[in-house]
Amino acid sequence: MTNDQIPKKMRLGSNEEDCYQRLQQQRRSLPIHPVRGRLIHEVQRHNSVIVIGETGSGKTTQIPQYLYEAGLHRNAVIAVTQPRRVAAITISKRVAQEKKTELGHLVGYCVRFEDVTSDSTKLKYMTDGMLLREAILDPLLKRYSIVILDEAHERTIHTDVLFGVVKAAQRQRAEQGLKQIKIVVMSATMDVDHFSKYFNNAPVLYLEGRQYPIQVYYSVEPQTDYLFASLVTLFQIHKKEPAQKDVLIFLTGQEEIESAVKSIRDIAREVMRAPNIVVCPLYSSLPSFSQLRVFQPTPEGCRKVVVATNIAETSVTIQGIKFVIDSGMVKAKVYNPNSGLDLLKVVRVAKDQALQRTGRAGRESPGICYRLYTENEFETFSNTTVPEIQRCNLASVVLQLMAMHITDVAGFDFMDKPSPEAVKKALEQLELLSAVEKGERYKLTPLGRQMAAFPLDPRLSKVILTAKDFHCLEEILTIVSVLSVDSVLYTPPNKREHAMAVRQKFISSDGDHITFLNIYRAYKSVNGNKQWCNENFIDVRNMKTAQEVRRQLKEICERQELPIQSCGRDTVPIRKCLTAGYFMSAAELQREGEYVTLSTRKVVSIHPSSVLFRCRPGYVLYNELTQTSKCYMRDLCVVDADWLYETAPNYFRNKKPGR
Ligand code: CDP
Ligand code: MG
Repeated sequence: MTNDQIPKKMRLGSNEEDCYQRLQQQRRSLPIHPVRGRLIHEVQRHNSVIVIGETGSGKTTQIPQYLYEAGLHRNAVIAVTQPRRVAAITISKRVAQEKKTELGHLVGYCVRFEDVTSDSTKLKYMTDGMLLREAILDPLLKRYSIVILDEAHERTIHTDVLFGVVKAAQRQRAEQGLKQIKIVVMSATMDVDHFSKYFNNAPVLYLEGRQYPIQVYYSVEPQTDYLFASLVTLFQIHKKEPAQKDVLIFLTGQEEIESAVKSIRDIAREVMRAPNIVVCPLYSSLPSFSQLRVFQPTPEGCRKVVVATNIAETSVTIQGIKFVIDSGMVKAKVYNPNSGLDLLKVVRVAKDQALQRTGRAGRESPGICYRLYTENEFETFSNTTVPEIQRCNLASVVLQLMAMHITDVAGFDFMDKPSPEAVKKALEQLELLSAVEKGERYKLTPLGRQMAAFPLDPRLSKVILTAKDFHCLEEILTIVSVLSVDSVLYTPPNKREHAMAVRQKFISSDGDHITFLNIYRAYKSVNGNKQWCNENFIDVRNMKTAQEVRRQLKEICERQELPIQSCGRDTVPIRKCLTAGYFMSAAELQREGEYVTLSTRKVVSIHPSSVLFRCRPGYVLYNELTQTSKCYMRDLCVVDADWLYETAPNYFRNKKPGR
C-alpha cells in the first residue's frame, strides 16, 4: 500500500513521512551500504574486526544499526564510544531520527553529567571516558555484547586505556565461559597493522572511499599570523567564487574561533557589504543547540562559513563544504614528565591531520584546500600525532586503573606504552595527594578509592574529600561544579567595559574561585532569573549545567556519607581545601613583579581573564597553564605560604615558599 492509498487520518504527516523516506534513501546511498552483508558476516565470525573508511562513509551512524538489525546485540547493549561529547550527542540524535524513535529509548547517549538512556536503550553512544568509568564498577562490561571503539586514530588517552580494558574483558569473559563480547574498531585513517596485531590479528574491512579530487595551495611565504591569513583567504574566496559553496576554516580553540567569527561578521557587514555570509563556530564546549546550526542546510543564495577546531577533521560531517582553509595548527596538551607540568599549547598538526582536513573539501564534488603554511614547512610536520597517552599527565588514568585493580600500570597491555618516567611521575603525584601509598609496590589508599568515585581530576576529588575536615563541602561543591562546566560568564567583545563594571560586585580579592562562589550564590538568590542573568552577563545555560553537575556530585558525596556543611562567609577554609588539591600548582610573586611556579621555578603570568589580573598577591594557586605569547595561569586562588607548608611539608622542604 502506498501512502496515497492509506485513509487520510491514518497517514503520517506527509512532511514527517517525506523526511523519513529521504533519510532511508540517504542511508542506502552511503558507501557503507554495499558492504553491510560482509560486515555482519565478519562480526559473526570474529571476535574483533577493524573497519577503515573515509569520513562521511556511514561508519558511526550505520554500523551500530546494522549489527542491531542483524540481531548481533543478543538483547544486550551495543556501546559506541566517541572521543568527543558533541559527536556522541549529535550522532545519537541523527540515528534516533533514522530509527524513527525518540532519543533515550532504543537509541541514547551518555556523556559526563548527562545520561539520556533507559532500560530499552540498545544503541548507546557514549564518550570513551564514560565507558571507562563504567569499567571501574564492572571490568567485564557485562551489560554490553558489542563495544564499538570509534575514531580510534585519535588516540585520546581514554581510548587508549579502553583498548586495553575492553581487550582484557574479552579475554576474561572467554576464560570464565561467559557470553563473548565483540570488539569493532573504526577509524578514518590509521596504522592498520599496528591495530590489527594488537587486537589478536583482527581482520580489516576497507570501505570504498568516495573522494573527489582536491587542489591544494600552499602559502608562498611562512605566515606569522595564521588568524589574519585565514580571514584574507576567506574574503578572497568570497570575492571570486559563487556563494553556494561553503567554506570550512580550521583554527585552534574557543577564544580564537569566537574572535574570528566576530571579525568575519564585521568585515562582511561593514567592509564587504556581503550580508549573505552565514558564520558558524564549532568547538567542543559550544552549547549543543548552537552546534546543530552547523549541520543545517545553507539558506538559498548564502555562503556558510564554518570556523572549527579539529573536531571537524573526522568526527562530524558537514555538508556542502567546497573550500577548506587550514591554519596547520591545533591546540594540544603537552606534558613534561620531568617537571610534571601539563600545558595547553598551540602546536603544528601532523601530516595525517593535514590530509584529513584537506579531505573535507572533496566530499561531494571537487574542492580546494588552502594551506596557510609553505610546502617546506609541511615537510617538517611529523607523520602522525603522538598518542595522547605519551604526552599527558597520567595521574587521572593511573588512579582509574588502580581502582580497577590494575596495580601494575607500567605492565598494562597498552597499544603504545607511556614512558616509565610519566607513570612514575603520576604515581608520585597520587602519592602526594595520599591517593596511593608505596609499599613493595604502589597500592590504592581508602582515600584514593573514594577519589576514584568522582568523575573529576584527582586534584578536584581531593579538594572535595578535604572539605569534610574544614566543614565547607557546600561551598566546595559549588566551586568544583562551576569549574567543571564551560565559562559561566559571557563577555560580548563590544560590551567588555560594561560587563566588567556590572560584575564588579561579585569580585573577591581572594581570587576567581571565591568570585565564582559569589556569582553562584547571587544566581541562586534570584532563582536563576533570566533577566538578572542577562543584566549581569551570566551564561544561563552553563549556569544551569553547573547546577546539574552540583546535584550529581552531591549525590556521590551523600553515597560516601560526607557531611554537607557550610562555612558561611569565611573563605579561609575554602582556600585551605583548594590548597590540599592544588599545592603542586602554586606560584610565588618575585621582587621584580613576576611570578614563578614553586614546582619548577618557571616564569608565569596571571591571565587577563582572572579577577586577580591587576592585583599582585604573594602566593597563588592556579588550575591551568596555557601557553600563548606567554605562559598564563588561569583560575587563581590567593593562599598563604604557611598553608602550603602545612599541607605538604615534605613536598615544600626544599622549595621554601616565603622563606
Ligand atoms: O562515521 P563516518 O564519518 O563514516 O560517517 P557518519 O558519521 O556515519 O555519517 C554518514 C552520513 O550521515 C554523512 O555523510 C552525513 O550525510 C549524514 N549525517 C548527517 O546528515 N547528520 C548527522 N548529524 C550525522 C550524519
Ligand atoms: Mg564517524
